[in-house]
Amino acid sequence: MDNTAIERIDSFMESGFNKIEGWVVPTIKNILKSISIVQDNHQIQGGIFEIGVHHGKFFILLCQLLRTDEFALAIDLFSKQELNIDHSGRGGYEAFSSNVDSYCPNPFHIMSLEADSLDLQPEDIRSKIGSARLISVDGGHTCEHTLHDIHLSSQLITGGGVIILDDYYNQEWPGVHEGFIKYMLHHNRKLCPFAYQGNKLFLTTISWHQIFLREIAQLTPNHKIVKMSGFDVISIK
Ligand SMILES: C[S@@+](CC[C@H](N)C(=O)[O-])C[C@H]1O[C@@H](n2cnc3c(N)ncnc32)[C@H](O)[C@@H]1O
Repeated sequence: MDNTAIERIDSFMESGFNKIEGWVVPTIKNILKSISIVQDNHQIQGGIFEIGVHHGKFFILLCQLLRTDEFALAIDLFSKQELNIDHSGRGGYEAFSSNVDSYCPNPFHIMSLEADSLDLQPEDIRSKIGSARLISVDGGHTCEHTLHDIHLSSQLITGGGVIILDDYYNQEWPGVHEGFIKYMLHHNRKLCPFAYQGNKLFLTTISWHQIFLREIAQLTPNHKIVKMSGFDVISIK
């Protein structure tokens, strides 16, 4: 029998997680498990993609949640590092691909795309994985990249999907915060934050905000409810 998503996360944390270069706190596994439970309970389906994978540390963690009929897409500049204008990480295809082969449960369902996210249209992603239920935005960290990549993701997220924005409170990458605030003030049509943990801000579609807030809070013993951009958010240490 197939391992459950939660068992696969625990197994990856014990095996590949510490061997792959990247910037992910191990406690992030807890909220990913909770999101998986909520999305399972509500039968939310869709693909997974990440913009900015580096060597795949977070992407492969997300891929542990991939169901047998779903697909995942890794987007990175990879060899086009001259376009990495703020030097946020340095994707390496060989390291990434070898890590996928070693640690992804179903490597045949994983695709990659060497591209500058600023050049992508929603169809470039939808044609590969359909709509998405889990999206990580961790590519270029300027205000403009952040604003663009959240907007792109908002066109691909399914209802009850989750967008995970990295480096939301990081003094070395202020563009992420600025880009998010500009998105919320001037461009937002359907997203709102519902949780913050480990330097990552978690967004969902507005209709699902109360459901995620209630059910993730129930699954998270120690948390504080704070207001962010006018929405209640579960802040988890
Ligand atoms: C901070 S690293 C990603 C870390 C990764 N998510 C992890 O958890 O290990 C940022 C990545 O974004 C990629 N990147 C930077 N600018 C980009 C752009 N405009 N389009 C696509 N990828 C970009 C870099 O090559 C790098 O691999």
